[in-house]
Amino acid sequence: MKIGIDKIGMYTPKQYVDLVELAKHRRVDPAKFTIGIGQDKMAVAPLSQDAISMAANAAAKILTAEDKTAIDLVILGTESGVDNSKAGALYVQKLLDLPNRARVLEIKEACYGATAGLQYAKLHILQNPTAKALVIGADIARYGLDTSGEVTQGAGAVALLVSAEPKILALDLATSYFSEEVPDFWRPLNQMIAEVDGKYSNEQYIRFFKETFADYQTKTKYGLNDYAALTFHLPYTKMGLKAMREILPQVDEAKQNELQQHYQQETLYGRQIGNIYTGSLYLALLSLLDNDAILQPGMRIGLYSYGSGAVGEFFSGVLQPEFKAQLDPMYYLDLLAKRQKLALDDYEAQFTAQLDPESENQALTDDDPFAKYYFAGIVDKKRVYKAK
Ligand code: HMG
Repeated sequence: MKIGIDKIGMYTPKQYVDLVELAKHRRVDPAKFTIGIGQDKMAVAPLSQDAISMAANAAAKILTAEDKTAIDLVILGTESGVDNSKAGALYVQKLLDLPNRARVLEIKEACYGATAGLQYAKLHILQNPTAKALVIGADIARYGLDTSGEVTQGAGAVALLVSAEPKILALDLATSYFSEEVPDFWRPLNQMIAEVDGKYSNEQYIRFFKETFADYQTKTKYGLNDYAALTFHLPYTKMGLKAMREILPQVDEAKQNELQQHYQQETLYGRQIGNIYTGSLYLALLSLLDNDAILQPGMRIGLYSYGSGAVGEFFSGVLQPEFKAQLDPMYYLDLLAKRQKLALDDYEAQFTAQLDPESENQALTDDDPFAKYYFAGIVDKKRVYKAK
């Protein structure tokens, strides 16, 4: 039985900051941001879009009534949770009107949470082949104004429908993971912005990639030549390339060029959105599938997930015969094109407001035409989410 990704949907908020403008404002050469880091724009979530509403919006894009009836597992991978106890996935279940006869939970391990969810879902479907699982990665990445991490902020969500006989990507059962406590990035309780040791985090990302890729090679005997493309967790689009360069000497020049060409396609969405933490690997996968005309059914795609702290995992899957019919690239072209550029004063004012999101009795509205759901405020200490 094949198990894997049957559908994939994405949401990112309607506002962005132009990073050339930000670079000039911060007195940095714009080429550092656009070439050195590899980012052009970063998505900024308004107060009315948090990890929960973005997750529901990403899932709403792909789910039919038939899918909803079959879902008996809902996992939200997030590090931008809105509650220290309750799983954000419960709000998502209610918003999307998903069955109550379901296991619904949240997983946290930095950017790795959605991958943990995907692997859990894979085993769940192995035991329950007629069921479907919804796995969502949703986050808002915040490092602070005028910090070196600022250019790598972003916001958004990616939803995966996992099933038997998947229409997009059948995942191999084999997978390679590696975990070790490292102080590269963390966010203390009650702090809205992350702490990071940037250069060290880059090194750990690469170290964990080399560990997991080599282990997967030993386990499966797949060499780099067996992959049409490798997809990466993309905190910024240069990062995956730095990791890939470490293993490119394993293949000849023609294959190296081929892998780097595919890599460009997987960075197209991330370049305009930024780091969405748990969803970033799957945003890269969606970008590759939507934009790469060369990919064909039967080709193998590698996936590298990295969550600071840190856990890395490398796994792979094979593109299915009808994968192109499941995609909707024009929708995302439209969504990205219709976003509004934020003036830098507004961005800075909103950023400061986001640091105090819990104040009572704010009634929030949301006019994003691509968002069906939004966070409407806090009433009697309870978070209120609404559908439009
Ligand atoms: P920085 O110190 O501002 O930048 O930090 P830099 O001085 O290292 O420059 C960056 C690159 O731009 C360099 O290229 C420069 O040469 C180049 P590289 O040597 O790396 O190839 N550059 C230029 N290029 C063209 N024209 C110029 C120019 N000037 C410089 N004029 C850093 C950059 C990414 C460290 C910072 O933004 C940061 O701390 N970001 C947040 C941390 C991060 O994203 N880490 C990634 C790995 S950890 C991870 O992925 C997990 C994470 O997603 C969290 C989670 O798991 O939840 C972050």
